[in-house]
Amino acid sequence: MENLTNVVSQVKKNLQKVSDLEKLEELTIRYLGRHGLINETLQKIKEIDPGKRREFGQKINAVKEEINKLFLIKKNQLIKNDEALTDFDNTLPGRPYPKGSLHMISYATEEISAIFSKIGFIRMTYPEIEREYFSFDSLNMPPDHPGRDDFETFFLKAQKDPQLGKMILSPHTSSGQVREMWRVGTPPIRMISIGKCYRPNWDTTHTPMFHQFESLCVDRSINITHLKGTIDYFVKQYFGEDREARLRPHHFQFTEPSFEVDITCGVCHGRGDGVKCRVCKSGWLELAGAGMVHPNVLKHGKINANEYNGWAFAFGIERLLMVRGGLKNMRDLYTGDIRFLEQF
Ligand code: DAH
Repeated sequence: MENLTNVVSQVKKNLQKVSDLEKLEELTIRYLGRHGLINETLQKIKEIDPGKRREFGQKINAVKEEINKLFLIKKNQLIKNDEALTDFDNTLPGRPYPKGSLHMISYATEEISAIFSKIGFIRMTYPEIEREYFSFDSLNMPPDHPGRDDFETFFLKAQKDPQLGKMILSPHTSSGQVREMWRVGTPPIRMISIGKCYRPNWDTTHTPMFHQFESLCVDRSINITHLKGTIDYFVKQYFGEDREARLRPHHFQFTEPSFEVDITCGVCHGRGDGVKCRVCKSGWLELAGAGMVHPNVLKHGKINANEYNGWAFAFGIERLLMVRGGLKNMRDLYTGDIRFLEQF
């Protein structure tokens, strides 16, 4: 009993010497821990005359409470000192984490998918590592076609397939056309495929990896007005109601007839040379390739070319971004410079 009274003054003395939270913790354990002084003393209750036990218990608990209070006061003091030392001002606003965003190409991909899903086109992706058959032969491109040179297409060191030819990096999304025909079997087909393409070029308007989106429609009695209507719809949705598209005759092996797609320039609104527009020169900007699917391609796709026909087109996504504005040097998209990318 006697020494219990001393305990409080002992603790007070000891606490004066404590200057950090670690020491405080040690001291707390020494008095209040499982094997600390208070608990050890409590064990002794068995040795005491039963009549006095109650008083003894009450006394210990009072001391315990008092010590507890002393420790708590000291703890708060130490924490306060600590904060004062570190100059912590909890009224300052927090430091925000940098926010991530999607890459421009991912935004464009989402936007284009949404535009086409409204008119019932489903989105597909097809292999980036391809066989010559899907990129060339099935698209009516003969073995000596210049697009099949190794300065136009990346060839991989892999075994040649007896039917499907050499392994390549797909140079255009048109490689998915016959794959889609095989997948669907019997038309109708309404597909868009957005994917990476590869060609060995590197300048302000070309990167060795780029993106295209391909659209393919195969059904009965399809004609050029369906192609033009779809392109018009896309151009107005993506660029704005004031933009016009035109089809200009061209040549592709896999379409007949074939076209290049131009849109009116956003700067001079199609007036061209008359106002000496520096962006377009002619009033029109070239944007895509298109055409009516060649019967030979339908044949490779195991589709009866007498019963069905279709159209196809492909836009370069980087080109879309450049024409819509905001992107001047295509290489900026892929050098990974965050100062450029975070603006979008
Ligand atoms: N594949 C062609 C290219 O990359 C673009 C193209 C032209 C795609 C005409 C088509 C098309 O679907 O009909 O240059």
